[in-house]
Amino acid sequence: MKRILSGIKPSGVLNIGGYSGALSQFVRNQEQFECFFFIPDLHAITVYQDPKELNERTRELAALYIAAGIDPKRSTVFLQSQVSAHAELSWMMETQAHFGELSRMTQFKDKSDGKDVVSSALFTYPALMAADILLYQATHVPVGDDQKQHVELTRDLANRFNNRYGETFVVPEPIIQETGARIMGLDDPSKKMSKSNPNVSSYILMTDEPAVIRKKFSRAVTDSEMSVRYDWDTKPAVSNLIEIYSVFSGMSIAEVEKHFAGQGYGNFKKELAEVVIAKLEPIQQRFHEIVNSSELNEILRDGAERAAAVANETLMRAKRNMGFLIV
Ligand code: TYM
Repeated sequence: MKRILSGIKPSGVLNIGGYSGALSQFVRNQEQFECFFFIPDLHAITVYQDPKELNERTRELAALYIAAGIDPKRSTVFLQSQVSAHAELSWMMETQAHFGELSRMTQFKDKSDGKDVVSSALFTYPALMAADILLYQATHVPVGDDQKQHVELTRDLANRFNNRYGETFVVPEPIIQETGARIMGLDDPSKKMSKSNPNVSSYILMTDEPAVIRKKFSRAVTDSEMSVRYDWDTKPAVSNLIEIYSVFSGMSIAEVEKHFAGQGYGNFKKELAEVVIAKLEPIQQRFHEIVNSSELNEILRDGAERAAAVANETLMRAKRNMGFLIV
C-alpha cells in the first residue's frame, strides 16, 4: 500500500510557494495514495511564536488545507500536538541521530546563522520530522526542494533503527515535483519565497486580495532582455515567474513560453496575476466559510483520533523492539 504523510508549519500565513511545492501536490496525491496530512505545530515552536498568533495561524492553515481540496473523508487531517506519539518517538529518534548529521542540515545552518540564541529544538528538529513520517509507515513524502535533506536523513535514521533493533519502520521516499518545488522571492530570485522576508512584496499569500496580488506581481523583478524565456542560469527572475504561471495554469513550461512568444513583460505579469487570482478566489471563498466553523473542529478531532490509532501502533512496536519493558 502506498501511503503519504506530509505537512506545512503554521508559522505564518501560507504563501504560494508552499502551495506550489506542497499543498497543491497534497490535493493531487489523494488520487493515488492513502494520505495523512498534518499541521506540524510542534515544529513551529522551534522559533518563538506568539501564542495567540500560533493559535490563529493553525486554524487558518487547517482551513486552507480543506479549502484547497483536501477531502477529510479520504485523507486524515490532524494537528501534530494532538497526537502525543510524535513527541515520544521524536525522543527515540534523537538517540539515533548523530550530532554531526544534524549540524550539516542546511535549514539549521540558515535559521541559526547570525543568531545569538538558538533553541536546542531547532537543532534536533529533523528527529521530530523523522518521527512524524515513520509513525505512519509512509512510503512517500511529498515536499518542496528545501525539505529533501530532512527526508534523506529520515531514511538514514529508519535504516539505522531497523538494522539495530529489527524491522520497525518503512523507509520512505521523497516526492519532489519537477516544476514549482522551489518558488523564489518576487524581489530576489536567489532567495526562497518565504513569509519571513520583511519585504511583503516578495511573496503572495494564499489570502491576498486580487488588488494586492496584481500590485505585487507588477513590482516583481525581471531582467532587461524582455523575452519570456525559461533559463534559470541567465534569467532566474523570469524563470521563477514562468514556474508560478505553469503551476497555477496547469500549462507546461514550454506551453507558457509559446503562449507569451514575442510579448513583453508587462502583459506577462498581468496575465500571471489573473491566473493566480482565478485559482485562489474559490479557495479563499471556501476558506472564509469554514475557518471559524465547528465543522473544522470536527474534522481535526476526527483526524487526530484516526491518526493516533495508526501512530500508537508504530510507537508500541518501536518501544518493544528497543527493549522497553511493556507491562
Ligand atoms: P515548511 O512549513 O517550511 O514548508 C511546507 C512545505 O512547503 C514547501 N515550500 C516550498 N515549496 C516551493 N517553494 C517555496 N518557496 C516553498 N516554501 C515552502 C516545503 O518544501 C515543504 O514541503 N519541516 C517541514 C514541515 C514538516 C514536514 C514533516 C514535512 C514537519 N514534519 C513531515 C513533511 C513530512 C517544514 O518546515 O516545511
